[in-house]
Amino acid sequence: MKILLLGSGGREYALALKLKASAVPVELVSAPGSDALAELGACAALDLEAPAAVAAWCAANRPDLVVAGPEVPLVAGVADAVRALGIPVFGHGAATARLEGSKAAAKAFMERHRIPCAASHTVSDLAAGEALIRGWSYGYPIVLKADGLAAGKGVVLAESEAEALATFRSFMAGQFGEASRTVVFEAPLVGMELSLHVLVDVDAQHAAFALLPACQDHKRIFEGDRGPNTGGMGAFGPIPFLRPGDIARMRTELVEPTVRGLQADGLAARGVLFLGVMWTASGPKLLEYNVRFGDPETQVLMQLVDEDLPSLLLEVAEGRLVSRELKLRPHTAITVVLAAEDYPEGAKKGVPIAIGTPAATLIHAGTRKQDGQWLTNGGRVMNLATFAPDLASARAAAEAALAHVNWPGMQVRHDIGLKALKHAEAGKTVEDAWG
Ligand code: AMP
Ligand code: GLY
Repeated sequence: MKILLLGSGGREYALALKLKASAVPVELVSAPGSDALAELGACAALDLEAPAAVAAWCAANRPDLVVAGPEVPLVAGVADAVRALGIPVFGHGAATARLEGSKAAAKAFMERHRIPCAASHTVSDLAAGEALIRGWSYGYPIVLKADGLAAGKGVVLAESEAEALATFRSFMAGQFGEASRTVVFEAPLVGMELSLHVLVDVDAQHAAFALLPACQDHKRIFEGDRGPNTGGMGAFGPIPFLRPGDIARMRTELVEPTVRGLQADGLAARGVLFLGVMWTASGPKLLEYNVRFGDPETQVLMQLVDEDLPSLLLEVAEGRLVSRELKLRPHTAITVVLAAEDYPEGAKKGVPIAIGTPAATLIHAGTRKQDGQWLTNGGRVMNLATFAPDLASARAAAEAALAHVNWPGMQVRHDIGLKALKHAEAGKTVEDAWG
């Protein structure tokens, strides 16, 4: 099977490994790919924001399946352009990708379909926003979200009126260009955050979905959830204290109304939805939709899914998904991100990486190869991913693997999954305070 994989990071490398692990021979082409992905297949220098360019490549090369990693090509309409050629795409069209591409559109969707979420106001007018902040009655922090894509930097939790005003004015002045000239204000939600991925296959005649195990990301750079936000410093799944009833609750309260809402709104969906969920004192609330797999959640999920990935993604891409329980390994998987010096403000590039023989899957994210030597080439450089019968042993395995990869200035969190492990060991459930 010839597969075009769009993207170049750790998520795509994890997808590539799983695609190549299929019993079906897979000819992989990554676009734009990376030096590491070039070791798993070919690379094509395509501009993922140019639907016509990707479609032209597909028309000439006729892949059997296109798999989209990041959201940017989806929002740009790449999936629509390729599907118009009759080539199956795992990835949503531009209309559905607006669920991630516009926070205002996502909130309107949630409200229209009565999906539990934070109270919100959408504002595109300076005076109206300033008045909203001055009369804010939902408590602090005030959550401000740039409407459009802002490379993960468009959400600010303002702790004071002054900070909210400064953030809002900067957004409206075009801090993220047009993306921040509309701002969604949200009431703060308190609780435990988790990542819920769902394969969705929806059109006017058909609506099917399949849940993947809930996992948890760790967004702050430092241990103990301190320091600035990153793209994610590590993840694990499943979450040991989530009971089957808790999953069922997210299915009925968040996932099913989403799938019904897509169909009611005439939004076809052929890919994955990643629901950012906050489990609050009054149950699960939807923080956001992503129209793609999470990074680093994918590095966890690909270790847990016990299905033939090319066949599964093709089922979705061809509109043949049947709602079902996916086959999963009875394990807990973990991934620990190895980040560059200066991340997340910057990323020190070109530093040689010492790689030994870790008993874990080494996932390349931001690396490049020069004269046979791997160098750092991005903020999140690599992941070590492993699995074990339970979270405690998965954590231990990851820790042991960490001794085998290093470079000067490498940043890593040693507490991935630790808070959840302590919560579970104390016999607590998702209803107990997360602290
Ligand atoms: P988003 O991109 O919407 O997921 O926001 C980025 C991060 O901001 C989330 O992962 C949460 O940690 C946090 N966040 C977003 N919305 C809220 C909210 N209403 N209350 C508290 N935290 C939030
Ligand atoms: N790990 C969070 C994200 O992919 O958005």
